[in-house]
Amino acid sequence: MGFLSVLSFAHRLVSERLKPGDIAIDATIGTGSDTLFLAQAAGPKGHVFGFDIQEEALTLTQQRLDQSSATAIAPVTLLLQSHASMKDAIPQIYHGKLAAVMFNLGYLPSSASNKEIITMTDSTITALQASLELLRPGGVITIVLYPGHPGGDSESEAVQQWASNIPQSIAQSIIYQQLQRSDAPYTVAIENKSYNKLKSRG
Ligand SMILES: C[S@@+](CC[C@H](N)C(=O)[O-])C[C@H]1O[C@@H](n2cnc3c(N)ncnc32)[C@H](O)[C@@H]1O
Repeated sequence: MGFLSVLSFAHRLVSERLKPGDIAIDATIGTGSDTLFLAQAAGPKGHVFGFDIQEEALTLTQQRLDQSSATAIAPVTLLLQSHASMKDAIPQIYHGKLAAVMFNLGYLPSSASNKEIITMTDSTITALQASLELLRPGGVITIVLYPGHPGGDSESEAVQQWASNIPQSIAQSIIYQQLQRSDAPYTVAIENKSYNKLKSRG
């Protein structure tokens, strides 16, 4: 039967935590499959925000949402901007209330895309830190990483280090990885315990 794929594993973690009416972010919309997944899980009373730096990703994602036969999906706000600015872009009323933030790093997987446009370590880490601050206690961040492509190896290492260094009192970090292939994609996930509780105590 085999284990879940890294993408299915990320979806599993999110679907266990994201309920109808919740707010979620797709930090790298690409062709929109995670955006649609989040919109279905959040339902019409929820809301999904999606980020990408390429116009093509917004077009593909909008097409996927428009063509979906899924009924009762959440309203989706697609933003042509870096996920590094998510803290400013997400309305203040949702800060500390997000149920899930999904990252799928690397390049846009459409046939016509420029594969040299990839996620970059600095903006990824800025966005991850912002995500942790935006999550509610019990909310989850999932990150699918691709160490097998140029640039993806150092980004994966930096993300793993960032996730390993989060104090255990704030969040729990896990990794889902095939051990026999060092270049295989893998998933890191972080469940927020109490970031906002700690912050509000000063
Ligand atoms: C692997 S793809 C995402 C795949 C997507 N989840 C899907 O289902 O098709 C990575 C995406 O991240 C986008 N990206 C790169 N840098 C970004 C940034 N700073 N902020 C937001 N998106 C970024 C790329 O343009 C690309 O579309």
